[in-house]
Amino acid sequence: MKVLLIGSGGREHALAWALAASPLLDRLYCAPGNAGIAQLAQCVPIAVMDFDKLVGFAQEKKIDFVVIAPDNPLVGGLWDRFEAAGIRASGPSMAGAILEGSKGFVKDLCREIGLPTAAYQRFRDAASAKAFADTLGLPVVIKADGLALGKGVIIAETKADSSKAIDFMFEGGFGASGNEVVVEEFMEGEEASFFALSDGETAIPLAGAQDHKRAFDGDKGPNTGGMGAYSPAPVLPPALEQLAMETFIKPTVAAMAERGRRYAGVMYLGLMITKSGPKLVEYNCRFGDPECQVLMPRLKSDLLTALIATRDRQLHNLDLRWRSEVALTVVMASKGYPGDYAKGSEIRNLEEAAKVPGVEIFHAGTERRDGKLLAVGGRVLNVTALGRSVREAQERAYRAVDLIDWPGGFCRRDIGWRALSR
Ligand code: AMP
Ligand code: GLY
Repeated sequence: MKVLLIGSGGREHALAWALAASPLLDRLYCAPGNAGIAQLAQCVPIAVMDFDKLVGFAQEKKIDFVVIAPDNPLVGGLWDRFEAAGIRASGPSMAGAILEGSKGFVKDLCREIGLPTAAYQRFRDAASAKAFADTLGLPVVIKADGLALGKGVIIAETKADSSKAIDFMFEGGFGASGNEVVVEEFMEGEEASFFALSDGETAIPLAGAQDHKRAFDGDKGPNTGGMGAYSPAPVLPPALEQLAMETFIKPTVAAMAERGRRYAGVMYLGLMITKSGPKLVEYNCRFGDPECQVLMPRLKSDLLTALIATRDRQLHNLDLRWRSEVALTVVMASKGYPGDYAKGSEIRNLEEAAKVPGVEIFHAGTERRDGKLLAVGGRVLNVTALGRSVREAQERAYRAVDLIDWPGGFCRRDIGWRALSR
């Protein structure tokens, strides 16, 4: 088969790595890709939101299956565009992707079908949003309804901050995604992510993972896209994974189908493990980044077969196998990330680092120019290791990190601490 993968980050490199191992694969293309993906696929410089060019390219190359990895094109309807052109793709459809595209939709769905989540209300004006926020106590959580590049959530510690956050969103601080605002109760607990596949009728579990969102050690500093992750997450033991399937994933799949929004694709369930049990934080319609970089090394079964089964309603025939080892990934980012950072610094010695047993290095923001590997993004490398324990995976990952010669980069030194301190 000829497969086209859409995206350019570490998540996409991990997906390309898994797809490249598929017995079904003849040829892999990636738009736009990065320097790591270029070792596995033919990269084509088409942006993920350039739907016309992507569909045109797929038609020209007679692509058999498209894997759409990022949220923006899924929420924007890229799956529907491919399918309308007669090209099979992994979803969800635009109608299904509302699970990530509208926080208010998901909260209403939780209320209608009884999924445990934080108390909330949806608002279209600042005065009533502020009045409701005042009834919830502090901290209080203010969310822009739509996609906001992962930045649309503000946890306000004071009444003044909550008021400011509400005004900021209604004044267009997050663009149109803040036309509607969700105000919700703050949930206390430990966060974990659970992943599943759905074909619209049947859902099967993938695995759990935990990421580190803050930039610096000890979970301090600004929020980022994710500085590291591991899977499985000890906070989600098998019994809780089963509960996640029965209490959240399966009822959601059924409810989406009933509402004419058949959901076929990856389901990413963000959970808060509270004293009174797991509660939904959010749904995403895709793999997490960097969570995908720890799921793929653990997946023994063929990813391409599984993704095609979500598209063709064949998941009832599928049984996925997983390695028992733990996977852990350390994100190396450009100094300054998530704020301003310099582009173009050189990275050396990756080949040596990749020789550490159990290690796989996934690229995010890299480019190869004149034979040199350059950092061109915020998050740049994902140094991933398998091990028999979190401790062993962590030790291997950092042994590889320490072999990488990149003065322009930094990473956290404590990825996995929550799992190790349990
Ligand atoms: P989201 O974009 O919905 O994932 O929210 C971003 C982050 O905000 C989450 O990963 C949580 O850390 C935090 N968050 C969102 N909603 C809540 C809530 N109700 N209580 C506590 N933390 C929250
Ligand atoms: N790691 C969080 C995300 O992918 O949204």
